[in-house]
Amino acid sequence: MILIFLIWALLSCSVCLAVEPILPLHSVATDERKVALGRQLFFDTRLSRSNEVSCASCHQLATHGADKVPRSKGVEERLGDVRAPSVYNSVFNIRQAWDGKAMDLKAQVTLPVENPKEFATTWPELIDTLSADKSFVSAFKQVYQDGLSRDAISDAIAQYERSLVTLNAPFDLWLQGKGPLSEQAQEGYRLFKYYGCINCHQGKNVGGNMFAKMGTFGDYFGDRGTPIEPADYGRYNVTGREADKFTFKVPGLRLAARQAYFFHDGSEQSLKGAINTMARYQLGRSLSEAQLTAIVAFLESLVGHHQEMAP
Ligand code: HEC
Ligand code: HEC
Repeated sequence: MILIFLIWALLSCSVCLAVEPILPLHSVATDERKVALGRQLFFDTRLSRSNEVSCASCHQLATHGADKVPRSKGVEERLGDVRAPSVYNSVFNIRQAWDGKAMDLKAQVTLPVENPKEFATTWPELIDTLSADKSFVSAFKQVYQDGLSRDAISDAIAQYERSLVTLNAPFDLWLQGKGPLSEQAQEGYRLFKYYGCINCHQGKNVGGNMFAKMGTFGDYFGDRGTPIEPADYGRYNVTGREADKFTFKVPGLRLAARQAYFFHDGSEQSLKGAINTMARYQLGRSLSEAQLTAIVAFLESLVGHHQEMAP
């Protein structure tokens, strides 16, 4: 009997330690030659019809892999419908885009290529343009059996994005017992769990692994003060299900502390403001200034580093 109890105690304790709701980030296996091709494509403005815009124009890697404006500009300065999220750590998302319309990173590549407000081109046109570059064609031949194709281009870009993981965040090091975490950040993490932010923002990306309605405890869109736009319907635009109206992929918060704007509509400019809105509309709570500051400190501690980022 005592033995059974001891085994139970041992097992439950090791399990309880292993199940923190946020997990450290880790690098993902990639093929170096494909990553190198993907990187070239990511910065290549020939992907856009006007030769003006590249993936990196809207996903700025030196800062946080997203844009510094609420709505990005594609070809001919056309404004997009939603805010550009970060490409860092996107490999860990269950789906890509706010409404999850792309199954994975490879499938996502088609969206900017064909979007009239982004690259505004077509695959045949794009492959035509890139095929004029003989060194590019031969580089692809060496790595991909079929050479330069839609599949190879998408795959190379996705491979590069798989390499965009931000490592060694102070929070991750602390979770693994490898480094300290300030009292304030620890308090922020406690509040994040206590109030239930963790119910939606969890896992490696502190988000990115489920969909949730914007406005569980209040009419976010009614209170926003601007008309509802098609993109505000979120996941509903993909599934057509009534229950998915105003539902979005929960964004990962790994680099939230570096973002210039927040939410799919880019309507919020301050991190504290975004946390306040979340507390109010997702949890029906209001937080004190000290609690907001602690949660900001926790979010700061989630920021890791990647070699593309400015030191
Ligand atoms: C004109 C600006 C712009 C360009 C150019 C652009 N993107 Fe984006 N990107 C966005 C916006 C806006 C979204 C959100 C779209 C949505 O949710 O419908 C997005 C979403 C994404 C996502 C999904 C991230 C997530 O968390 O859901 C990935 C990955 C991505 N882009 C990669 C790329 C790649 C790769 C390229 C180049 C082939 C590219 N983007 C070109 C603006 C841009
Ligand atoms: C019911 C699920 C849910 C809960 C609970 C929740 N969030 Fe969110 N969070 C979301 C969704 C969905 C979005 C995206 C909403 C949008 O863009 O319209 C979001 C967006 C955010 C953003 C903006 C990120 C970005 O890239 O734009 C921050 C910051 C954030 N949440 C922090 C928090 C904090 C802090 C708490 C607890 C006080 C919390 N969230 C509770 C679902 C939730």
